[in-house]
Amino acid sequence: MHKRTLIRAAIALAAAAASGIALAQEAFKIGLVLPMTGQQATTGRQIEAAAKLWMAQNGDTVAGRNVQLIVKDDTSLPDMTRRLAQELVVNDKVNVIAGMGITPSALAVAPIATQSKTPLVVMAAATSSITEASPYVVRTSFTLPQASVAMADWAPKNGIKNVVTLVADYGPGLDAEKYFSERFLFNGGKVAEKLRVPLRNPDFAPFLQKVRDLKPDALFVFVPSGAGAAVMKQFGERGMDKAGIKLIGTGDVTDDDQLNDMGDVALGVVTSHHYSTFHPSPVNKKFVAEFQKANKGLRPNFMAVGGYDGMRVIYEALKKTGGKGGGEALLAAMKGQIFESPRGPVFIDAQTRDIVQNIYLRKVEKKDGQLYNVEFDVIKDVKDPGKAK
Ligand code: PHB
Repeated sequence: MHKRTLIRAAIALAAAAASGIALAQEAFKIGLVLPMTGQQATTGRQIEAAAKLWMAQNGDTVAGRNVQLIVKDDTSLPDMTRRLAQELVVNDKVNVIAGMGITPSALAVAPIATQSKTPLVVMAAATSSITEASPYVVRTSFTLPQASVAMADWAPKNGIKNVVTLVADYGPGLDAEKYFSERFLFNGGKVAEKLRVPLRNPDFAPFLQKVRDLKPDALFVFVPSGAGAAVMKQFGERGMDKAGIKLIGTGDVTDDDQLNDMGDVALGVVTSHHYSTFHPSPVNKKFVAEFQKANKGLRPNFMAVGGYDGMRVIYEALKKTGGKGGGEALLAAMKGQIFESPRGPVFIDAQTRDIVQNIYLRKVEKKDGQLYNVEFDVIKDVKDPGKAK
């Protein structure tokens, strides 16, 4: 070999070694922005607990890098989510932004992900369009169209022909209303009225009174995680069930975080969703047992699973990129991942960066004295119908 070539090679080697050492010393940072207080606090608590469980089970060193989780409370106010995400990117130099308890938070942060080329792992928010707000979004939660269509197929086959819809008046609620109604009409059903309640401090009473007067076969409900118990309570207090009106919806309304305290009014309620604490797989049983052990018996809900799987997607991407952690490379390594989640088999669609998963039909039943969403049917490998436009 030529002497100059040799020297060049030696310099290149030394530089590579030095950068390797620098990388090994530099922590890999995940900025987890969640609503830890306020109306959506249960979502924050569930996802933080799940992320910590993932790290306890899988260690905090991946491909030679020390993984650091930085948790920030956005109180579910999107302006705060944006400010915190900006600080995490600029000051803390996080490698990944994650969390996003509600849709407005995810949409507020999407431009920051794009500008800084930082992957944004959406673990909770579920409006279909979020993945289109930035090419750096990868979603591990679900979408409302994905969950709602299954209910619109099940209901008319089970004696429900006339429905009133009641949704929280923002992104995911509008998705649920649209995709449920369109499919229900297509299946020969009738939507008598479409009601929308405010996201902040909703009072369900006047809406439920209206539903009682309209007397449909069923009321289809979407409210975000944490608001289900209030709907269920007022539904029972107004004697809607006794008047022969069924409650149906996406599984957000029979959220495992609150279900056990909802009482007998919840018994028999059928919902469609991607995760139940009662999902009978060995992977889920282990997940539930270890989550409860680490969190004073708290039941993991679908938010926890979105957080847990989001951590897996980040860990796998870091492994695949050999601990380098650049935004583009991480994003590429997140696309196309296939694995078994506590919810069942899942796939991160490389084209849409959205999650493909099973949607289950479930009925609330008492098992060993506790209320659970017990799965009785499954639609396999459901893509977000919102992407077919
Ligand atoms: C959302 O804001 O996208 C959202 C929040 C809670 C849910 C579902 C969707 O349960």
